[in-house]
Amino acid sequence: MTIFIAPQLIRAQTENASIRFDKQTQVFRIDAADVSYVFGINEKKAIQTLYWGKRLNAADTFAAPVYEPGVAAFDASNNTTRQEFVAWGAGLYVEPDLKITFPDGNRDLVLQYVSHTIAGNHLTVRLKDISREVYVELQYEMDPATGVLRRSAEVQNKTSSPLTIEQVSSGTWTLPRAQDYRLRYLTGRWAGEWNLREQLIQPGKTILESRRGSTGAQNNPWFAIDRNGSNDQDSGDVWFGGLGWSGSWKISIEQDQVQQVRVTGGPNSFDFDYRLAPGESLQTPYFYAGYTHDGIGSASRLLHRFELGSVLPGAPHPKLRPVLYNSWEATGFNVNEAAQEALAEKAASIGVERFVVDDGWFGKRADDHAGLGDWYVNPVKFPNGLKPLIDKVHSLNMDFGLWVEPEMVNPDSDLYRKHPDWVLNFTGRPRTEGRNQLVLNLARPDVREYVFNFLDKLLNENDIAFLKWDYNRNWSEPGWPAVAPEDEKKVYITYEQNLYSILEQLRKKHPAVEIESCSGGGSRVDLGIMHYTDEVWPSDNTDAFDRLKIQDGFTYAYTPAVMMAWVTDSPSQLNHRTLSLDYRFLSSMQGSLGIGANLNDWKPEDFATAKKMVAQYKQIREIVQRGSLYRLISPQNGSEHSVTESVSADQNAAVTFAFLHSSGMLYPFPRIYLRGLKPDSMYRIEALDGKLASDTPAVASGAFWMQNGVDVNLQGDFQAAAFSLKVVAN
Ligand code: GLA
Repeated sequence: MTIFIAPQLIRAQTENASIRFDKQTQVFRIDAADVSYVFGINEKKAIQTLYWGKRLNAADTFAAPVYEPGVAAFDASNNTTRQEFVAWGAGLYVEPDLKITFPDGNRDLVLQYVSHTIAGNHLTVRLKDISREVYVELQYEMDPATGVLRRSAEVQNKTSSPLTIEQVSSGTWTLPRAQDYRLRYLTGRWAGEWNLREQLIQPGKTILESRRGSTGAQNNPWFAIDRNGSNDQDSGDVWFGGLGWSGSWKISIEQDQVQQVRVTGGPNSFDFDYRLAPGESLQTPYFYAGYTHDGIGSASRLLHRFELGSVLPGAPHPKLRPVLYNSWEATGFNVNEAAQEALAEKAASIGVERFVVDDGWFGKRADDHAGLGDWYVNPVKFPNGLKPLIDKVHSLNMDFGLWVEPEMVNPDSDLYRKHPDWVLNFTGRPRTEGRNQLVLNLARPDVREYVFNFLDKLLNENDIAFLKWDYNRNWSEPGWPAVAPEDEKKVYITYEQNLYSILEQLRKKHPAVEIESCSGGGSRVDLGIMHYTDEVWPSDNTDAFDRLKIQDGFTYAYTPAVMMAWVTDSPSQLNHRTLSLDYRFLSSMQGSLGIGANLNDWKPEDFATAKKMVAQYKQIREIVQRGSLYRLISPQNGSEHSVTESVSADQNAAVTFAFLHSSGMLYPFPRIYLRGLKPDSMYRIEALDGKLASDTPAVASGAFWMQNGVDVNLQGDFQAAAFSLKVVAN
């Protein structure tokens, strides 16, 4: 009898997830994909991290964990011992996972292991304070396909009086001790989102956060940590993660006194507390993290796969994004039935599949000064309601989408005149406006009901396939005067819970409706909102050259499948840059293609180009939206070049996009070395746009394309090319 040990072992190591507990040593071991995560219960019953990294041999065991020594009299062991979840008490100086004030003034909390349960992929570890009836359940779930671990903590008050949570995280991730860690993170602002930053991790703390009431673009709740100097796109250890929370949040990256790096994340503790009544509990957002041995490129591919497989609505099989048209940059607020119908006809003629009416269709909305909150169809712009336009759009074989900004109100609106108390505010204080609007306090049950009901009605009365859900300012004066003063700061949690529950309820009632998360561009993109929304708007900056960098940064954390990218007018309305239509299309085709140009100004040759490119995109979109993304040449740091490659899941097809900023001194465009192909399969190359070098063979092996590479003829300024590879023989 032949026993095929090797294939079986590989299978066990790539597909299976397992959670094991060793009673002898009190050690938990979670294995999935190529990752092992190990922690145990030490002699003081604290939960001590032991290992997080490349998958270990199934036979490897760990000794029972013991508390680390502290540092002299100044840092007791609880500061130096790697802990999964540590409360503030007993002389803790590192970032705590939980800080509580009790009504008697006691603020000391020390958590110890009580029990655990393992159910399939899910592990719950129960902790309790050494004397008080405060429990914390640590929850772990490992994704079998990617090894991404999902963590959350639930704080339970089983005492007989209320307690106040002043800080709570979903858990702490501790990296192996090392001194050469580099942190990558994302920063931004309106029209300048998704800047990739990096810095060495030094003793001390880096805080990534939002205090804005929503995710924000200034930092995104994503991190990646690797080894400086030795790592690149394809090699080296990377620990990475993202917080699934769309409210104010904080991720602290701290190198402690003994050079351990601790990553702690949860709702922001600034201006925060949460009163927990007896019998109540609070569950923290999900904090996801993963590990790879194969460089930052692999880290983002794992995240993309995880998002598609486990996070997005419709996961593990979310729908491909249709090609959409949006008239915002063409017509602004000036929407009406006739003009939109005319645009719809033009959009349909180039192969658009979804027609979206943006801002301006409702209330007394002539510009951004009025109307938000009054969600009835404007009778002057659409005298017969939306139905004639929707029917027209359907007759052109497109589905229909509509812009909404449900959480906002203009003071100049019927809603605000009727309910001035519905906004976030402090009694008797000014109400700071942003874009002439105020934020509705979604934490209020009546506001939650109003928002759900108007959206439900809109979807009941109109055949709408898609909502672009916008959110165009951040919070100010975040007061909630209707509740007791000691409960006001709950607004940071309750608002988000209600936002998520509205989205969930809408999706349940209208399962065919898709939603885009937009926030004046990319200010609300995170793994929390992505659970309820099918796509996101990365930036109001639609200049196709700026977008290369924006899109590059975006894809470090999020899949190109959700990355909406419109082809807009040239010169760009925003920065006046002139780019060819081909260049603009190729830039947008790296994500989910949309068109936002004023089609009324297009010439016949523009329609012809667009028709060709939309058809091409439909051929390759599965590769772009579902495939593996390789960054071949980075557009960051003033690079003159940018090249990305997407490879289909079965590695039988690939598409490559190449962009030149400006050529100099007659240097040729750098040779493009492909990745992710099967070395022994034969692939046919085809130029989609632009020219390949004349000596490029029509067919060659994966090895040839990866080792010998491909030359494209790009010279001058703002030039672009794209080519595809398809297997002809495996
Ligand atoms: C925001 C969005 C834009 C557009 C406008 C409408 O800025 O990001 O795409 O929808 O609002 O007011």
